[in-house]
Amino acid sequence: MRKTIIAGNWKMYKTIVEAIELANGLKREFFKLDFAAVDVVLCPAFTALSEVAEVLTETGIGLGGQDVYWQDEGAFTGEVSPVMLKDAGAQFVIIGHSERRQFFSESNETVNNKIKAALKAGLTPIVCVGENLQEREAGKTFKVIEDHINNGLVGISGSDMLNLVVAYEPVWAIGTGKTATPEQAQEVHKFIRDLLKKNYGSEVADSVRIQYGGSVKPENITELMSKPDVDGALVGGASLKVDSFSTIVAKASEVVK
Ligand code: 13P
Repeated sequence: MRKTIIAGNWKMYKTIVEAIELANGLKREFFKLDFAAVDVVLCPAFTALSEVAEVLTETGIGLGGQDVYWQDEGAFTGEVSPVMLKDAGAQFVIIGHSERRQFFSESNETVNNKIKAALKAGLTPIVCVGENLQEREAGKTFKVIEDHINNGLVGISGSDMLNLVVAYEPVWAIGTGKTATPEQAQEVHKFIRDLLKKNYGSEVADSVRIQYGGSVKPENITELMSKPDVDGALVGGASLKVDSFSTIVAKASEVVK
């Protein structure tokens, strides 16, 4: 049985004060909800991590970074290490987000280095994969996913896979309001699970959680979550407001109850 996981990627939004306010607002809403059936993770900007960690103390809500470097320390100006993320209170880290691949030249190789370093430090990587519009229209979706999965996860063992989450985020659905249909999401999630089966066997593949990301909203979460291989969501815009994110968590909980 895979436990549903809903994560909020706050991207480059929220000052420290705003982040504390949002985390407190969510905490208040989650107290009213029975969300035990769902893992909830908040991923603020680096600057707000430790303050948000404090707000989340003993709430059962997880905390994640949005990126990480693969060395523990050193002369790498601007980078943040897995040890530093742990120190700030994170248990998770988003790796290989399409915005990092697109704007900061992340490759499968850097993604792979980051995953290994995160796992070594005891962080749970949320590894993002997904095709852009051009690739989808050219019929290359599966090829791109296969490349991201097979090359991004090179050298990751089956037991490490149990501490890793995959997020399928079609680039054309991110921030565009255009969600993949539940059928489109399921088709790719199933493809990812089959690939994992081929690489690691059924037991591992059946345990890895695969989130969907791309314009997830209160209006579409129930339909998306009703698909057998959709194990949660990685939410951008709708995670920045207490109302919409808590509604998404509540609706996801309803589906799995
Ligand atoms: P949106 O939910 O804003 O489309 O962003 C999705 C995303 O990129 C989450 O990582």
